[in-house]
Amino acid sequence: MQAFKGSPCAASGATRPGARRVPSAAGQKTGLFSRYIVLIMTEFAVGGPGLPQQRRLVTEIPGPVSRELMARRSQAVARGVSSTMPVFATAAGGGVIVDADGNSLIDFGSGIAVVSVGNAAPRVVARAAEQAARFTHTCFMVTPYEGYVAVCEELARRTPGDHEKRSALFNSGAEAVENAVKIARYATGRQAVVAFDHAYHGRTNLTMALTAKNMPYKQGFGPFAGEIYRVPMAYPLRWPGGPDACRSDALRVVTELIHTQAGEENVAAVIIEPVQGEGGFIVPPPGFLPGLAEFCARHGIVLIADEIQSGFCRTGDWFACDHEGVVPDMVTTAKGIAGGLPLAAVTGRAEIMDAVHPGGLGGTYGGNPVACAAALGAIETMASEDLAGRARRIGEIMLPRLRKLAEKHPEIADVRGRGAMVAVELTVPGTLEPSPDVAARVARACHRAGLVVLTCGTFYNVLRFLPPLVIGEDLLEEGLSILEDAFSTL
Ligand SMILES: Cc1ncc(COP(=O)(O)O)c(C=O)c1O
Repeated sequence: MQAFKGSPCAASGATRPGARRVPSAAGQKTGLFSRYIVLIMTEFAVGGPGLPQQRRLVTEIPGPVSRELMARRSQAVARGVSSTMPVFATAAGGGVIVDADGNSLIDFGSGIAVVSVGNAAPRVVARAAEQAARFTHTCFMVTPYEGYVAVCEELARRTPGDHEKRSALFNSGAEAVENAVKIARYATGRQAVVAFDHAYHGRTNLTMALTAKNMPYKQGFGPFAGEIYRVPMAYPLRWPGGPDACRSDALRVVTELIHTQAGEENVAAVIIEPVQGEGGFIVPPPGFLPGLAEFCARHGIVLIADEIQSGFCRTGDWFACDHEGVVPDMVTTAKGIAGGLPLAAVTGRAEIMDAVHPGGLGGTYGGNPVACAAALGAIETMASEDLAGRARRIGEIMLPRLRKLAEKHPEIADVRGRGAMVAVELTVPGTLEPSPDVAARVARACHRAGLVVLTCGTFYNVLRFLPPLVIGEDLLEEGLSILEDAFSTL
């Protein structure tokens, strides 16, 4: 990971790695009071909503302590595991992340759509701590425990549709997707799986095959799993003929391709992200998802909604499928489900899920008791604090400001998203030619100013915004102002 160009930190006297004392260069600049604040934030800070909800920069980004840690990291951590920002977190909560130098950054990333309830959310921390003190693992496949069952009951209650459901719990989103495909194949006796352009489903062998983008996810990692068929995504901005043509043609094109290239009777599952995540926060036009669900039902194909990024209140409802009343046969979830602890799930129609023989599903850690306790705390938080409503409110604040920004900056070709899953796509003005360099420059300027933003998109040209749903409106507005400033310096 490179330091930001021009960062004066390279010349500043760095502290011993991990020593977390006040960096001398910053100390000279900021005075005694700020030194004291830095000490408080780095030495004594606990995370959660009690952290001061403010942006505060006491060093350049990255500061000297983070730079030292980056140097250690490069000697110990594999190069293939990259980080968006070269700063090391020490505490986080509400809408901020505090780094090892005492900088407090505004969080528009939520650890990639994970800490929707906020970092170190009180109910998550309390339940996980209590569970950890009781027992940390027995393996659900050896001696089960109630937390696993309770999470599956919550999933049955919250996921779309009021049919009878069953769930199985796993550790990561990719593992959930792998298992959803296994179950769909088993239940249908068919092998083909249909995935979409711009899809992202994970980094294991099967999920790499389902994921569309080559670099960085697939390059050099083949051969990939077979019997995957790819069809175009209903992507209004980039559909040939534009958004109107997308609305009228996409479903027909997709279903015709499934018919001609796979044959409906061979297809076990169609897997789709109802709002695509890594591919660029692509929202299909109204009617596309209901039409796809109807097509799948007609042909006995299992529709898998991958709600790993879009689920658990992120888009302003419990699940993105809810917006159009789509009831998939299976839903994969992870990320937001457990407030930051690793947990994932496949939830599906009872007859599909129960088709698999006893012992056919599982894994040593799947549905770990501490992660389940955290999930129950996260779900309780979402329900009692109406975080779906908070997501809608975040969208109501962000989208109009981003549209105004687009009026001033013709590089912004599209402003899109739902609830608190919002993005801008950048192109050469007046064309669809992607501008990844502009996205990278804006993101770097935001990072330097203390705003955590992420990029995404098949062409690396999308800036995406995923604030924790508990972020204060002041911080949200301040983050948007930083973004506007970053555009004005282009
Ligand atoms: C839609 C979707 N599916 C699957 C995954 C893979 O999840 P994980 O990284 O937990 O394996 C992701 C992760 O970004 C995702 O966004």
